[in-house]
Amino acid sequence: MALKITVIGTGYLGATHAAAMAELGFEVLGLDVVPEKIELLSSGRVPMYEPGLEELLAKHVAGIEGSSGRLRFTTSWEEVGAFGDVHFVCVNTPQKHGEYACDMSYVDAAFTSLAGVVREGSLVVGKSTVPVGSAERLAGLLPEGVELAWNPEFLREGFAVQDTLRPDRIVVGVRGERAEKTLREVYAVPVGQGSPFVVTDFPTAELVKTSANSFLATKISFINAMAELCEAAGGDVAKLAEALGHDDRIGPKFLRAGIGFGGGCLPKDIRAFMARAGELGADQALTFLREIDSINMRRRGQMVEMARETLGGNSFLGRRVAVLGATFKPDSDDVRDSPALNVAGQIHLQGGQVTVYDPKGMDNARRVFPTLGYADSAREAVAGADVVLHLTEWREFRELDPAELAEVVSSPVILDGRNALDSERWRAAGWTYRAMGRPRA
Ligand code: UDX
Repeated sequence: MALKITVIGTGYLGATHAAAMAELGFEVLGLDVVPEKIELLSSGRVPMYEPGLEELLAKHVAGIEGSSGRLRFTTSWEEVGAFGDVHFVCVNTPQKHGEYACDMSYVDAAFTSLAGVVREGSLVVGKSTVPVGSAERLAGLLPEGVELAWNPEFLREGFAVQDTLRPDRIVVGVRGERAEKTLREVYAVPVGQGSPFVVTDFPTAELVKTSANSFLATKISFINAMAELCEAAGGDVAKLAEALGHDDRIGPKFLRAGIGFGGGCLPKDIRAFMARAGELGADQALTFLREIDSINMRRRGQMVEMARETLGGNSFLGRRVAVLGATFKPDSDDVRDSPALNVAGQIHLQGGQVTVYDPKGMDNARRVFPTLGYADSAREAVAGADVVLHLTEWREFRELDPAELAEVVSSPVILDGRNALDSERWRAAGWTYRAMGRPRA
């Protein structure tokens, strides 16, 4: 009989994983401790913007007309325990307040609740990003006869559905053949379509996730450090990145210089990784990540300085600054640790009159930063501005008509914090275009 799957925690990761498992043909039950979330998901809607996710849910959530009916949601642990052969734990592990380490309280609570209800012979699979060594400890919380596996998740926001249905790789940390066999069954379709299946032990599986994110963060901070050098020496970091990327060993991806990385993963994961290395007595191995973090955070301040300099080098008082972008990346409504919102906030706190527009992130931005000015469109944000900052590379901004915006702006100067706009087009329409790490025209 086909395996029955539960997904504990229906945030970004869990909601996507649950929908993807239903798409792969399994009966799925998702659990969350927040009843409002369960209500929303049960009606086929998601509490965040993620391309394709609502469509996938609507295709499978029971009770929606024309759906497969394979996907249901609940708040009942008893139901989860009775239903599942395989339980995926997908709760979040945010950064602890005022500390580098990550907060394991949601994971611990999920394992404790699950331990009280799981059936003998079932498999619990951790997907949350955790400090290395957690799986070993969590295995001890589960009752006799229930196995644990660790199966980190690598999905990117904005591509969550495709990354889950067709992952770059599937990594499973296991202790026994039974867990491996069960997970091979769960992932038979993506593996059949070519996703590599890497089997390893608990600590290695946990480390793959944090080291992958550290590597990505390092690539971004490396190119941003090169951008600082280009600024000092008069070079062009976009050309430099293009030339570097032609080397197969380096590759072209994650070499876009700008205001750096943010979001709910990379910044907190590299910090938690450093904290864990310290606990393990291996902190020297990761001291370089401190530098990666500080290069990254420095970029935000450098963007603020570039704006100040453009406005004559003095105070922002009384100056109107349009900010295009609030989310930490395009195709997401996530503003967690968003470099764009941070830059907007710094300028606002220094007296600038900031007006922000973002295609999907307005509600979240208003919630975390209610004192900023907000506009309903890029054109409205730009109207009357003394300088325009492009801080999140949405397609909508690439497709703006610079000639039309030149008519409403007070001073046609655009600072591209993401190196993503077509400089020639903006210059041809009469704008002064400046980008980080690139020469002035
Ligand atoms: C990341 C990892 O990519 C993913 O594998 C992991 O599961 C979760 O963390 P995500 O946070 O969705 O995913 O975003 P990602 O696409 O990695 O971008 C992170 C940040 O880096 C964004 O703020 C983005 O704007 C920035 N970035 C990315 C750059 O500044 N330059 C680049 O070249 C690429």
